[in-house]
Amino acid sequence: MKISITVNGKAVSGDVEGRTLLSGFLRDHLSLTGTHVGCDTAQCGACVVHVNGEAVKSCNMLAAEADGADVGTIEGQATADGSLNVIQQAFQDHHGLQCGFCTPGMVMSAAALLKESPRPTEAEIRKYLEGNLCRCTGYHNIVKAIMAASGQDVGSIAAE
Ligand code: FES
Ligand code: FES
Repeated sequence: MKISITVNGKAVSGDVEGRTLLSGFLRDHLSLTGTHVGCDTAQCGACVVHVNGEAVKSCNMLAAEADGADVGTIEGQATADGSLNVIQQAFQDHHGLQCGFCTPGMVMSAAALLKESPRPTEAEIRKYLEGNLCRCTGYHNIVKAIMAASGQDVGSIAAE
């Protein structure tokens, strides 16, 4: 079937099977390979993108369901001049990534959280990220990065 989606502000269309997942469409049809697939049980969150402004696990949605939607991926997060957005920069500054596999999903989830709650507490951040697994960082620096991205003092979070 033919679908038309706006991805990172650009209209795209594609011919997909009914069973094609949104994650597969982004990666295989559009070559937007920042969105990762880390599981087959919708647990890891490496595939999180924005669909009409909401954080969504793209492995758990059919591409066909996104027909007509506005989708945002990690590739669309940098600012127009190519510099990192505030969340990406904070992940870099606070060492919120190691292998980088979870990072696109983490950044997309963090962006959705900060839209909902511009100054989240440490507990709020940890709870919101329940759907995003990381095998490298132990989460602490991710929490720090999100606190920093929200303009808060990272010294206020529990010591390592
Ligand atoms: S790949 Fe989507 S939740 Fe793991
Ligand atoms: S940085 Fe490796 S899984 Fe999170």
